[in-house]
Amino acid sequence: MNETLDKLYKNPDNKNIEENFQFILFGGTGDLAHNKIIPAFYNLAAKDILPNQYTIIATGRRYDNKKEYLDALYNSLVNKKGKIDNRIWQQLADHIDYFQLSFKDNNDFKRLKNNLENKAKKAKISDRIFYLATAPNFFAEIAKKLKSFGLLDVALENNKARLVIEKPFGHDFKSAKKLNDTLTNIFSEENIFRIDHYLGKEMIQNIMVIRLSNPIFRALWNKDHIDNIQIYLNESEGVKDRGKYYDDAGVIKDMFQNHILQVLSLIAMEEPENLTAEEISNKKVEVFKELADNDLSNIDRHIVRGQYDSEQVNGEKINSYQEEKGIDPQSKTATFLALKLFLNNERWQGVPIYLKSGKRLNKKEAAIAIEFKDDFHSAYLDQKNIDNNLLLIKIQPEEGVSLRFNTRKPASNNKIIPVEMEFCQSCQQFFNSPENYEGLIYDMIAGDKTLFTSWEEVCYSWKFIDKIQAKCEEENITLHKYPALSLGPDAADKLLETDGRSWLDKD
Ligand code: BG6
Repeated sequence: MNETLDKLYKNPDNKNIEENFQFILFGGTGDLAHNKIIPAFYNLAAKDILPNQYTIIATGRRYDNKKEYLDALYNSLVNKKGKIDNRIWQQLADHIDYFQLSFKDNNDFKRLKNNLENKAKKAKISDRIFYLATAPNFFAEIAKKLKSFGLLDVALENNKARLVIEKPFGHDFKSAKKLNDTLTNIFSEENIFRIDHYLGKEMIQNIMVIRLSNPIFRALWNKDHIDNIQIYLNESEGVKDRGKYYDDAGVIKDMFQNHILQVLSLIAMEEPENLTAEEISNKKVEVFKELADNDLSNIDRHIVRGQYDSEQVNGEKINSYQEEKGIDPQSKTATFLALKLFLNNERWQGVPIYLKSGKRLNKKEAAIAIEFKDDFHSAYLDQKNIDNNLLLIKIQPEEGVSLRFNTRKPASNNKIIPVEMEFCQSCQQFFNSPENYEGLIYDMIAGDKTLFTSWEEVCYSWKFIDKIQAKCEEENITLHKYPALSLGPDAADKLLETDGRSWLDKD
């Protein structure tokens, strides 16, 4: 068990990357590079866990030279972090190179190949990581060019070239399969790292530890003891400047197909026999397959779609979704979705699972609530409204766990009151929650796929989402308007009220 805990609680201070690597960042001038990837590298450099010889080769078109690029990165880092250690920044900057490249220009790929080879001659490079932080329509094209222009055949020590792909991985099953077929002609599945940044979050990585290392939860993790499961990923922001992408995707593809289903799979999967990436993924795939088999015959009663409307807040108008930049003014895209579903397996038969996510809700808050059954001793049944035990795994903004249980009201005649035990990880004085991307980047360099999604996971999650989309269209499911910065459509509350329950994020 200690080994299990060690592996799951990877102590960042004990890890080290020893192999030299080249990290080729396509989309090096974009938001993701500025706000997530380079800050994550900065943190890894600050922890002193990068090898002596590594190079980040950021490709892009926007800047003319390395100095301009580094200045821009520096400014973004300072904006994000407030204050940075210039010594660490300098150490990192010494490892960053900027390479001007257009995805369309074959000659640029030839030049890049020569550049990488020259660099590789100077240092013993064993791994080459190609990170595609670009618009998704370039994924296949770039991967093909990496192969056809020989960027993958360079003599690497162990011949390891990896491909890292940001989301979205396709926009439905068909397009995801097409993309996957192209990529697997070039890279083996072992070397394709599909990112879901939720898997980089501290408390999501904690789910298995909480489930598997606590006999009190492990023994109760099934339909006999759990009344219902709720997962909510609520956001207060609107679509910002991503209107064009979002209007096609909507909440179902933006948050459900990936993040929310990934969280559900970790909560609902059978216990893995070991903690290898492959075994964990196999267990998750079983959940995705069951989801894809769901008949959805009651979809009209089990789903609530919503779209945010304009609202006045403190004298200021918040735009409706349809008024946002890049959105069709007649758009019927859902920015909110609540879904009730069941898993038809021995562990979960009959346990309702409620999933919810939306933009422009009253606050940003993500958590998993496991509510236990009201299995009280008959002696207490005359007391009305005893609360069920509740395990709350708080993903963000606070990271932690709380457990609600019942106790005797002091000085009363055995009157029962609920109390909460709280563990707040993010409140710990010396705890500095790592960036989501920090652990992911570490793992992709180290070649550990545990926190990345396999093709099978992606494949069945799309099949499930495609089915929901088709059903919604077929049954013409209502789109409820909800005021911006509200709790979402009332219909989402009714979804649970008819079951005699309520959302647990309403405090
Ligand atoms: C992204 C979605 O994958 O996740 C965004 O595209 C969403 O629309 C974001 O806002 C939420 O991530 P986080 O880490 O802020 O909860």
